[in-house]
Amino acid sequence: MSDRYIDFINSSVGQMLAKNLGLPAPTPLDRFVDDQPVVSGAVLVGAARNGTLVDDIAKFLNNINADTYALFDSEVHAAAAGAGLNIQAYAPSAEDSQKFKAVVFDASGITESEQLQELHSFFSPIMRKLASCNRVIVLGRTPELCDNPLHATAQRALEGFTRALAKEVKKGGTAQTIYVAPDADHLVVSSLRFFISPKSAYVSGQVVRVSATGIEAGEVDWSRPLAGKVALVTGASRGIGEAIADVLARDGAHVICLDIPQQEEDLQRVASRIQGSVLAVDITAHEAPARIAEHCKNAHGGLDIIVHNAGVTRDKMLANMKDPLWNMVININLSSEERINEALLNDDVIRANGRIICVSSISGIAGNAGQTNYATSKAGVIGMVQSMKQPLQARGITINAVAPGFIETQMTAAIPFAIREAGRRMNSMSQGGQPVDVAETIAWYASPASNGLTGNVVRVCGQSLIGA
Ligand SMILES: NC(=O)c1ccc[n+]([C@@H]2O[C@H](COP(=O)([O-])OP(=O)(O)OC[C@H]3O[C@@H](n4cnc5c(N)ncnc54)[C@H](O)[C@@H]3O)[C@@H](O)[C@H]2O)c1
Repeated sequence: MSDRYIDFINSSVGQMLAKNLGLPAPTPLDRFVDDQPVVSGAVLVGAARNGTLVDDIAKFLNNINADTYALFDSEVHAAAAGAGLNIQAYAPSAEDSQKFKAVVFDASGITESEQLQELHSFFSPIMRKLASCNRVIVLGRTPELCDNPLHATAQRALEGFTRALAKEVKKGGTAQTIYVAPDADHLVVSSLRFFISPKSAYVSGQVVRVSATGIEAGEVDWSRPLAGKVALVTGASRGIGEAIADVLARDGAHVICLDIPQQEEDLQRVASRIQGSVLAVDITAHEAPARIAEHCKNAHGGLDIIVHNAGVTRDKMLANMKDPLWNMVININLSSEERINEALLNDDVIRANGRIICVSSISGIAGNAGQTNYATSKAGVIGMVQSMKQPLQARGITINAVAPGFIETQMTAAIPFAIREAGRRMNSMSQGGQPVDVAETIAWYASPASNGLTGNVVRVCGQSLIGA
């Protein structure tokens, strides 16, 4: 569904009205198009004293040929020389017209609260130097794994900084925190690539943990990272599922498109467009888990990625909610996913460096009146990710979730107008997301280079005001 308000407010009449009446003025977001560089514009890189991630950041920026700048007195220059990165010295002033598309700051060296001052001294002078649809990434060390309380406290503080900064960057910009575990520095690249690029258009104010999982990735072809992989997407005939199938196929995967038999015609249309295959099954059917496992084994010799996307809402206030509505939502959105995972794992269908990716919802984080059934199911999905992370890691499989906010699909088109408008505007970007925004986030988790990501729940919600 299209958001006509964005088109109108970005016309000359609309801009004048927005200014005079104080209306929200959402920026049209940059989104990825084929053959685009990872980042289109200058990148400013900085580091707090004694940062330990700056070498890997410099190597990454060198590999993507970023047009890189650092402040004159920055420690970054030595790291850049080591990585062969050509870096230009920069001194912000009120007069210069320099704009940065991305800012990457290594805060890993911040070991106590007084040192948080380095965030202020680096960022304050450059806040007016951010380009439209800018990307701010702050890297730190996983607080739970820091070796003393002062260090853990200072690192945990980064989260508040970036969440607040994400509300200040405006112009379609985003800001995130990436916490990196000791021994996981080399695993940060896939997350840097995602968050610096337009692929993360509608993800903001998020916190990601990169862990030393011990899972091997092998060589990664960044242009087709999923070449040779087999992915199964449930609910693939339309909406977010259709976009996930498109993006995973673009990245090289063979996609098995699954949906209910009634949707077979649409499913066929999606599968033929992406040279995928069709599996028309109701995931709640008694025989569904075994059929899915058998199909993956017999037709493809196994499975690399499963995306549990199929989901429904059946909203009613709890006082009016009958058993069938409650049971149906829990069954489709949660219990069937558990049963399918069990069948795939018992039969060893998921291959090494495999992925289980779930679609939760901000409703499962914040709750929503009229959605006790839905919020229960989607919070359960988060519980599944957190509780299965350890046992799966031992089998070389990662599990993560996305939690979409307001995404423009048939599901949200059915919401009454006033509630729909509130859902669209109540986020840092004053607009709804597109199905492709969820799909790109899933493709980032799916990449073989994301072997350091497990147990994460990332919201794709434009930093919605609803929820934490
Ligand atoms: N659209 C949003 O704003 C939003 C926000 C948060 C979360 N989500 C979640 O994203 C996912 C996709 O949502 P969407 O907006 O694309 O919805 P949608 O209704 O457009 O698509 C859902 C798909 O799931 C399929 N499906 C439903 N029950 C099934 C079953 N028993 N077996 C197999 N397939 C089944 C449907 O046929 C449909 O094709 C859902 O899990 C939803 O809860 C959506």
